[in-house]
Amino acid sequence: GFMRELKGIDVMELELKHQLGIKKVIIVPGDSDESPMVKSELGKASAACMKKLFQGENIIAVTGGSTMAAVAEWLSPEASGKELLFVPARGGVGEDVQNQANTICSNMAQNTHSRHRVFYVPDQVSTEIYDSLIKEPGIHEVLELIRSANMVLHGIGDAMTMAERRKTNPDILEKLGNGKAAGEAFGYYFSEAGEIVHKVVTIGLQLEDLEKIQNVIAVAGGTSKAKAIRAYMKQAPPSTIFITDEGAANNLLNQ
Ligand code: BG6
Repeated sequence: GFMRELKGIDVMELELKHQLGIKKVIIVPGDSDESPMVKSELGKASAACMKKLFQGENIIAVTGGSTMAAVAEWLSPEASGKELLFVPARGGVGEDVQNQANTICSNMAQNTHSRHRVFYVPDQVSTEIYDSLIKEPGIHEVLELIRSANMVLHGIGDAMTMAERRKTNPDILEKLGNGKAAGEAFGYYFSEAGEIVHKVVTIGLQLEDLEKIQNVIAVAGGTSKAKAIRAYMKQAPPSTIFITDEGAANNLLNQ
């Protein structure tokens, strides 16, 4: 309504933080559905937020997606001798190379002059293969790093958009439809009520691990993602810092 439009962004940030029950909300002007520049601004705000939270030594677990790619663009070398190590949060969730966490971690490391690890784990392998994979020294090492991460940076996607992007098979698509999947994060699909409808089987960070991680930063914007954000936020840890745009924020606040 009219009053809503008169509200400043700082008021919206506080209202949204209370509505979602999380630690902090940062809103950038505009709607990333309408302009790629707004997605870039999301990236800029996220990079600034990360910088403030960096400590002496940092292990940062990162998911994939175009929003995470936008964050990578804005990261720059740390002047004060802080150590950064970027690791993919989860194994293969079936994305194109430019959207993969491996690629994004590599770009983040390059832009900050720091280190990263790659994590190549295929989707949908048998339990036996998984059991032997996690014993592989290279994979075991990355899993240990993920477990000791002090920061998680992740995107949130619209459930059906993500299912299509991952070329999900018809059985699973049906499962997502029947369960009214609305949002997706970390390979977990959530209904609007916040129930887990489906989970992509892979190793790495699991939803329950988020509770133990000091800084959890979720980045997602655009009016079209409001439903997805609402769904995921029902499960998000209270320590979450959420970075979004006006498009998504207006929609979330006007429900
Ligand atoms: C994927 C992540 O790579 O990106 C998902 O695995 C996330 O968990 C998605 O939902 C978000 O993508 P985008 O392009 O909308 O930032």
